[in-house]
Amino acid sequence: MSSEGYRVAVVGATGQVGTLMLSLLRERGFPASEIVAFASERSVGRELPGGLLVRGLSEESIQGFDLALFSAGGATSGEWAPRFAATGAIVIDNSSRWRMNEDVPLVVSEVNPDALAAHHGIIANPNCSTMQMVVALKPLLEEAGIERLVISTYQAVSGTGRAAVDELLDQSHALLHERAIEPPGTYAHQIAFNALPHAGSFAPGEDHTDEELKLINETRKILGDPSLRISATCVRVPVLNGHSEAVNVQTRRDLSPERARELLAAAPGVTVLDDPAAALYPLAIHASGSDEVFVGRIRRDPGHERALDLWIVADNLRKGAATNAVQLAELLHERGLLQARGAPSVA
Ligand SMILES: NC(=O)c1ccc[n+]([C@@H]2O[C@H](COP(=O)([O-])OP(=O)(O)OC[C@H]3O[C@@H](n4cnc5c(N)ncnc54)[C@H](OP(=O)(O)O)[C@@H]3O)[C@@H](O)[C@H]2O)c1
Repeated sequence: MSSEGYRVAVVGATGQVGTLMLSLLRERGFPASEIVAFASERSVGRELPGGLLVRGLSEESIQGFDLALFSAGGATSGEWAPRFAATGAIVIDNSSRWRMNEDVPLVVSEVNPDALAAHHGIIANPNCSTMQMVVALKPLLEEAGIERLVISTYQAVSGTGRAAVDELLDQSHALLHERAIEPPGTYAHQIAFNALPHAGSFAPGEDHTDEELKLINETRKILGDPSLRISATCVRVPVLNGHSEAVNVQTRRDLSPERARELLAAAPGVTVLDDPAAALYPLAIHASGSDEVFVGRIRRDPGHERALDLWIVADNLRKGAATNAVQLAELLHERGLLQARGAPSVA
């Protein structure tokens, strides 16, 4: 860290996404003069790798930051993001709390970076399954327009948080050792050796989960087409990390699989892995740990003359959350939208 640069707060620094944001800020050389780790009262005083001591959120402790990266859940963002913004910091928030707010840009670095400039102190990072899909859709949208999407997701348990990862491991271990499992805590049913058509939760009277509604509404907002027709089914599968998605893309103009492959191969942040005869296609176990969005199984939908089928896989904790948040911070810096104001003087 240099003496010149930005004072950066990472809120939720002990969590899966927060831990990654801390390491990405360092690895990618983000110009920070100081990084301060915040988490819940439970973790205050804990030492993180790199020697950072976790602090608690208070009116005093949040003063003097230029940038705050949040990944501490919707309730914490609801309360503390506006408070950070009121001190003059720019907030980049990973939770769903502010994403659909009209005054809050919802930004993916490769897709709609120009939306950043319209912020009023809070910028939202999209939901992980939306993020990886729109990175792959952007070059196809520009070439041929998009009329309709039919999406099925196969989402990893890390997307639910650390407790869900532990639950999958505990259940798998118990079942492999022919022991009874504990009653499910995170999900409605056993996740080990199962597939749950219930990623997210159902609001009363609602037949889509909130995860499915996020995928629909956030995609429309990011792609700037509020009437885009989208059908979504989000499924939780016993994968530790890395979301996979089968996406049927109906374009407005004709687009061949060959041209789509060419466009995707040239798109920033996308890697095409598409040689099914050689068993080459994206897999969650390979995408995990990478910042890229992987696309394969690119083929013509035999059921529609202007539709293609794609298989899109990415690390939900990295490009689906932490990496994009840090990329947005880098864009703010590169575009002169972030100001280093210096630490507050101590009275
Ligand atoms: N996981 C994903 O794939 C993904 C993708 C996109 C967005 N997100 C979003 O990112 C956020 C974090 O996800 P995660 O997977 O990193 O969860 P996680 O591993 O469960 O971590 C949650 C973090 O929030 C902190 N926290 C909880 N309550 C707090 C409070 N009252 N005040 C301050 N900090 C508090 C926790 O601190 P303690 O350790 O002290 O409890 C921890 O640092 C969520 O909003 C999630 O929706 C996650």
